[in-house]
Amino acid sequence: MCGIVGYIGQQDSKEILLKGLEKLEYRGYDSAGIAVMNEQGVRVFKEKGRIAVLRDIVDESVQAPVGIGHTRWATHGVPSKVNAHPHQSNSSRFTLVHNGVIENYSILQREYIQNVQLKSETDTEIIVQIIERFVNEGLDTEAALRKTLSILKGSYALALLDHEDANTIYVAKNKSPLLVGLGDNFNVVASDAMAMLQVTDQYVELMDKEMVLVREDEVIIKNLDGEVISRNPYTAELDASDIEKGTYPHYMLKEIDEQPLVMRKIIQQYQGNENRLTINKEIVEAMNAADRIYIVAAGTSYHAGLVGKHYIEKMARIPVEVHVASEFAYNMPILSENPLFIFISQSGETADSRGVLVQVKELGHKALTITNVPGSTLSREADYTLLLHAGPEIAVASTKAYTAQIAVLSILAAVTAESKGINLEFDLIQELGIVANAMEVLCDAKEEMEEIAREYLSTTRNCFFIGRTLDFYVGLEGALKLKEISYIQAEGFAGGELKHGTIALIENGTPIIALATQEHVNLGIRGNVKEVVARGANPCIISMKGLEEEEDRYVLPTVNEMLTPLVSVIPLQLISYYAALHRDCDVDKPRNLAKSVTVE
Ligand code: F6R
Repeated sequence: MCGIVGYIGQQDSKEILLKGLEKLEYRGYDSAGIAVMNEQGVRVFKEKGRIAVLRDIVDESVQAPVGIGHTRWATHGVPSKVNAHPHQSNSSRFTLVHNGVIENYSILQREYIQNVQLKSETDTEIIVQIIERFVNEGLDTEAALRKTLSILKGSYALALLDHEDANTIYVAKNKSPLLVGLGDNFNVVASDAMAMLQVTDQYVELMDKEMVLVREDEVIIKNLDGEVISRNPYTAELDASDIEKGTYPHYMLKEIDEQPLVMRKIIQQYQGNENRLTINKEIVEAMNAADRIYIVAAGTSYHAGLVGKHYIEKMARIPVEVHVASEFAYNMPILSENPLFIFISQSGETADSRGVLVQVKELGHKALTITNVPGSTLSREADYTLLLHAGPEIAVASTKAYTAQIAVLSILAAVTAESKGINLEFDLIQELGIVANAMEVLCDAKEEMEEIAREYLSTTRNCFFIGRTLDFYVGLEGALKLKEISYIQAEGFAGGELKHGTIALIENGTPIIALATQEHVNLGIRGNVKEVVARGANPCIISMKGLEEEEDRYVLPTVNEMLTPLVSVIPLQLISYYAALHRDCDVDKPRNLAKSVTVE
């Protein structure tokens, strides 16, 4: 995780770096720092806490046209000022920011810098101290950096300043994302184009094991053998307004509200000629060639994958397994003869998923990535990509990406089914259109959801979500949303499973949020609600029109039964949002989390 930025040009770098870091706070926000360099030397400002805290300690009077910055999600070493980046070598000649994890840092420490007194507990400081050692032994900075990179094991995106060369930012990348942005008489470095959209929309992508010399008027990319690589820039197609909150108090609320629009965009993007949904022919062929599909993902994307399994099996009739990436990487199941892997990832950068992708590519299998971020690592490294077209998702809690993932999975399943001559008996374009309208109704139901949050969740210490089949999967997502932003302990269960243990936790007043949108299990889930009510639970039943009963707390507009996860999740997102607000939690930046989990 962590985010890094850099600027070299003619303007003062401080504000550009701070603004850039604010845009990267989603990558981690437990401490932050910048280092700025001018002819007089380097000044480092760093502090525990958010960028706002850093802003307060930056000395406004310092003017410096070169700088690097970092926002941290702690891996090695607690969040503290000492462990915050930038880190400096002992002579203070070199200053470094780093995103990633150096797996062999303790071995390197013993081997190369045993006698160096370290200031922090981080793996990053090891890198900068080793660079200094190699320079002291006679190498120039570029050669010392290259030699250091050759002994590092793990992931890094890093930016280095050498106080004796005020004209260069040294940059390198392996596994962690990093871009170089190009401008007139300036160049920038960023973990994500969003950070530097304020100054440029022209970016050069870096590949693993590349290093770059970034100067005011040139950018030289080299491989680790020192050979120069030429690469054309691309235009980042991000609208600056997409990454602003506008009049919304939180990104999460804005992103919840964007869901109807995203649904319509997806229909438009995947609609081919003759009013039919289309998917790249090669992807459909790969689906049809597979004897089994393995969906691999983490967190919310894993929950979308569970719904995707249902779609692919029911519509396209191909068996599907869904796996949590961090488990699959170390406990691979016996694979079928012709597997196809589908990686679902909003960011396209999740290290756990990428670890699996690398393994399955080594085994020679085909992989499809479903992601929101074109050009992301998982997209680049897979054979095929399907995009979510959801626009940047900034709130740490994923909302619109989840529904976009489910919609794209439904299209993938339906198009594959059609290619096999399976008649689905419904028109998915029309059904997704109905979903978009229903989503609008739900986004307008904020007052009701706020009331539910107040009534059920203001003081509770736990909450259970139950449902059967698709409703169970949505319940898992509802529980994740609630716990991650409100810190209420929340768990999702299959309705029938509660009585096998968890029902012991039900006390007088324990809130149970039950989803009842599936006709064939409606009686079953209603029975499960009765079981918990008999033990004192306080039930909040959310059902669908046509299946409703008098006791229900909220009734969703009717949509195709298969597509209910796209609508039933919205009340759960809103209830979580308001529960977090009522508890004064930081909705967009919950504690201990980061948006893009780029460490395993
Ligand atoms: C929860 C959430 C996370 C992510 C997970 C995977 O709201 O956002 O659980 O879903 O970290 O991230 P991606 O989808 O970027 O691979």
